Amino acid sequence: MELTINPAKSLRGQVAVPGDKSVSHRAVMFGALAEGITEIEGFLAGEDCLSTVSCLRKLGVTIDETAEGSLKVHGKGLQGLAESGEVLDVGNSGTTMRLLLGILAGQPFFSVLTGDPSIRRRPMARVTLPLAKMGARILGRQDGNLAPLGVRGGNLQPIAYESPVASAQVKSAVLLAGLYAKGVTEVNEPYVSRDHTERMLRAFGAKVERAGARVAVEGFPVLQAQNVKIPGDISSAAFFLVSGSIVRDGEIRLTNVGLNPTRDGILTVLGEMGASIRIENQAEVSGEPVGDLIVRPAELRGVRIGGSLIPRLIDEIPVLAVAAAYAHGVTEIRDAAELKVKESNRIAAAARELVKMGVRVEELSDGLKIWGGKPLQGAAAESSGDHRMAMAMAVAALGAEGVSRINGAEAAAVSFPDFFETLQRLRT
Ligand code: S3P
Repeated sequence: MELTINPAKSLRGQVAVPGDKSVSHRAVMFGALAEGITEIEGFLAGEDCLSTVSCLRKLGVTIDETAEGSLKVHGKGLQGLAESGEVLDVGNSGTTMRLLLGILAGQPFFSVLTGDPSIRRRPMARVTLPLAKMGARILGRQDGNLAPLGVRGGNLQPIAYESPVASAQVKSAVLLAGLYAKGVTEVNEPYVSRDHTERMLRAFGAKVERAGARVAVEGFPVLQAQNVKIPGDISSAAFFLVSGSIVRDGEIRLTNVGLNPTRDGILTVLGEMGASIRIENQAEVSGEPVGDLIVRPAELRGVRIGGSLIPRLIDEIPVLAVAAAYAHGVTEIRDAAELKVKESNRIAAAARELVKMGVRVEELSDGLKIWGGKPLQGAAAESSGDHRMAMAMAVAALGAEGVSRINGAEAAAVSFPDFFETLQRLRT
């Protein structure tokens, strides 16, 4: 699907951004492993989270949709999943694939997982290696690195795993397998990645301990069903934080946005760039901090970012690159080589698409260098099937001179099904 995006003079209004993708996946997975019925409110009905629902249904879990964004998960208990006669299709969702691998590593039965062409290119050895060390048997292309993957789990041993990457998917896969290993399973990572698994597993009754970037879980807890309210996704809010900053007039209020400190790097960086963002109505909901974000236009300036900040904003880098294109001066993003193995190679994609709009961009081995502040030209952008690239380029188009087209705009439905309608509604 190709969409035309005209420049915007003003963006004004209120947006309840859709539920957090990471938290939605975990709520439905942990609900499936708990005793009793877990009720979820604010669930993200995007394609990725629906893939998780569909895989769990194939593993014997009953999940009812009681209203829009409201799910009832009939927990099977830790040992209640059943072997599926069907292939588990995760679609475009890395979180579904990697977290489910952790759960399936603990099951005394055989499963096959696959997904779309993008997921079949993404590295899975980062998860299958530690899971194999724990005792799971996993086969796949490239020695278990590429899906389709076959898993025969069960009889796991705990490990203390030193993860080479700061990845919540790796950490979570090992911790979930650790639920099925007698004793304590530990994961240490180079920097702290998002901690939704730790927070939510603890709320469901698991014994989880954290010291710095080291997390430990005790095997064979009894998980108890919970009611979970999902916060709005700061990664979805990010598109409006940047739109509201670069479009010359207006004000956008984003309500009930998750402000978990392992996810809020975008606020730190936009703050350093000179953005005008106010936080109101701060509260805690289901163990996660939330608040409203109010963004107004501002003159942005370039920044240098890297190190421990990167995992706190990894999914926001495409739209941050757009902010950098509108900011005066040079922005340098380093230590972000992980971007190459996301839904698309986001270093290459962001550089290629911004160059089309007339921006000077240098592709680095671990990031991007962007010379901002010159007028952008409307262009024919390509999402490469990547939801965050589709939305980031739509944001870039808002402040450009002339009309832009986004090819593959439908990819936005992976995490933000109403994105383009919402953007349209804010134009004044
Ligand atoms: C996620 C972790 C991150 C992030 C992804 C969601 C999660 O991936 O990019 O969108 O829910 O755990 P990595 O673990 O590969 O960094």
